[in-house]
Amino acid sequence: MCTNKKTGIIGLGAYLPEKVLTNKDLEKMVDTTDEWITTRTGIKERRIARQDEVTSDMATEAANRALKDAGLTAADIDLIIVATITPDMFFPATACLVQEKIGARTVPAFDVSVACSGFIYGLAIANQFISSGTYKHALVIAAEKLSAITDWTDRNTCVLFGDGAAAAVLGPVEKGGILSVYLGANGKEGDLIKLPAGGSRIPATRKSIESNLHFIKMNGAELFKHAVKIMADAALEATRPLGLQADDISLVIPHQANVRILNAVAKRMGLTKDKIYLNIEKYGNMSAASSAVALVEAVKEGRIKKGQKILLDAFGGGLTWGAIVIEW
Ligand code: UT7
Repeated sequence: MCTNKKTGIIGLGAYLPEKVLTNKDLEKMVDTTDEWITTRTGIKERRIARQDEVTSDMATEAANRALKDAGLTAADIDLIIVATITPDMFFPATACLVQEKIGARTVPAFDVSVACSGFIYGLAIANQFISSGTYKHALVIAAEKLSAITDWTDRNTCVLFGDGAAAAVLGPVEKGGILSVYLGANGKEGDLIKLPAGGSRIPATRKSIESNLHFIKMNGAELFKHAVKIMADAALEATRPLGLQADDISLVIPHQANVRILNAVAKRMGLTKDKIYLNIEKYGNMSAASSAVALVEAVKEGRIKKGQKILLDAFGGGLTWGAIVIEW
């Protein structure tokens, strides 16, 4: 077994459902306006999965595209991680369902449930297995069907979320790859965003349904403050051990919760806004899938060049956070 290999992203793919729900559409559903949503969040539209299209379907499509991009097949994969808070069901893990759907071998497959930081946690875990030489190729997939846990009568939350998936194939690389990883969590603030019912604390009952407890509940204003500070701090924690200054980072690929959060993070980091990749306008907040889809699109648009250092930076429910520096 070889040890201390460098781990890189060698293939990427995304899948977004076809249906577009615009702010104008939402104006007909709840008491809101395109102007409020645009100025407060930066979101113009989001994608919504079909009723019969579940998280593992989107994850599978993204995984197949990432495999193709890597020039590999499912048989080459040694580990499957799915980051999601909207699994098809509690168990089996969505990663196991994806294993079957893509036709992978009986390799380890599990889900990571850390909300919006899930893609970064997944990359961090896969990095450990690959750099230690335990496995050669891993699939890290972030997939969410947030529309399934969104209260479509609550204007405070329903304008924010969307569905989508993206996947990365990780493998050993000669140069560059993942340079540093920083993860964190703070369970004390877990009440700020949560799905109260459906677990062992409040199992599904007629009462839990009538009380609307199977939908995302969120204290947006409090989360906003935490997000700005934590994302800026996490960026610093991931870059400092490498001796990097903000200027050494060519592009930040952040979790996309709110354009105002990201402008404030840029300011704290001393970065110009153009160094923060944004696609929230098209997709809203897709939890774990947000930073993953952003990475796929940034690469596709040629925003990331070989040899450049990029920073993935996310924050979400838990609370959880994570930042990763990658040399492309
Ligand atoms: O994914 C990681 C976790 N999530 C986040 O990090 C989200 C962080 N939070 C946010 O992005 C923002 O706090 C929100 C976008 C959720 C809300 O923006 P805000 O500027 O903090 O607004 P607010 O919650 O303070 O609400 C301001 C007003 C309220 O009215 P009153 O009480 O001042 O009369 C709300 O009722 O805006 C009202 N409001 C709306 N009005 C029109 C809330 N939602 C809407 C809406 N349309 N959709």
